[in-house]
Amino acid sequence: MAGLRVFAPAKINLTLHVTGQRADGYHLLDSLVVFADVGDVVQLHPADAWSLRVDGPEGGEVPAGDDNLVLRVARLFPDLAAALTLTKDLPVASGIGGGSADAAAVWRGLCQMAGRDADAAQLLQLGADIPVCVPSGAARMQGIGEAVTPLAGLPALHVVLANPRVAVSTPQIFRALARKDNAPMPDVLPVFADAAALCDWLGTQRNDLQAAAEALEPQITQTCQALAALPRCLLARMSGSGATCFGVFATAQDAAEAAAILSSARPGWWVRDGALGSMRAQAAPRPLN
Ligand code: C5P
Repeated sequence: MAGLRVFAPAKINLTLHVTGQRADGYHLLDSLVVFADVGDVVQLHPADAWSLRVDGPEGGEVPAGDDNLVLRVARLFPDLAAALTLTKDLPVASGIGGGSADAAAVWRGLCQMAGRDADAAQLLQLGADIPVCVPSGAARMQGIGEAVTPLAGLPALHVVLANPRVAVSTPQIFRALARKDNAPMPDVLPVFADAAALCDWLGTQRNDLQAAAEALEPQITQTCQALAALPRCLLARMSGSGATCFGVFATAQDAAEAAAILSSARPGWWVRDGALGSMRAQAAPRPLN
């Protein structure tokens, strides 16, 4: 069998409401999740033994040992073996799903290699964000991450992603929350005519991790302010537990122009622009030539 190439799109939390905490310490969330056409790439080649090579612009800090999340996913397929190459463009521990997107991409590739759909419930134990990354479709994510409801009909959005190159600890931010019983999103989400209407509504919603993250890492405040100040930015917010923030734009040209301005003003930051939405088709495994 030929090898496979699988795209691992960045996950963006347009909203992230923390609505409670379970007895085991995990937090209950209510989040509107979309994906960007910016991401990592996984290649899988059938082999006699498992191996992992990490490369790409953001590959330097990623350990390729047995603890790597993609090898932990591989161990769920004891009947297979493959040589994996992970090409990283997403910064590590940055709130846009990097490790979870990679784990989900390897899962999609191995399901295809095995010729079967395996039980994705096992992935929740490896990371609460992995289940939503498996389909990589726009979704409402609830529970601790296991309840994924696909969302259709969101308007086309474009985005600038910016990371000020500070790593943040997700458990530390959850621990620092002042309140853990915040209001969820409405049961039924409105229908949005266009990007501006969606962003108006998003402005009434929240990322409940943002204040705690900004208190621990003030560069997150600067990042969101820099995005909000870009021409034609409709909304700026932090994704996940940070430190990556996103600015939303109505057109690809607006986002590309804004990303160019931000990259030259902040050459040390990781800055990308892309389309935001459902990446189901792009995230499907493809044969390698
Ligand atoms: O599962 P994941 O690796 O994404 O989460 C990292 C940490 O973030 C968890 O160990 C937990 O401390 C915290 N977390 C949480 N509630 C969630 C997701 C993550 O408290 N729903």
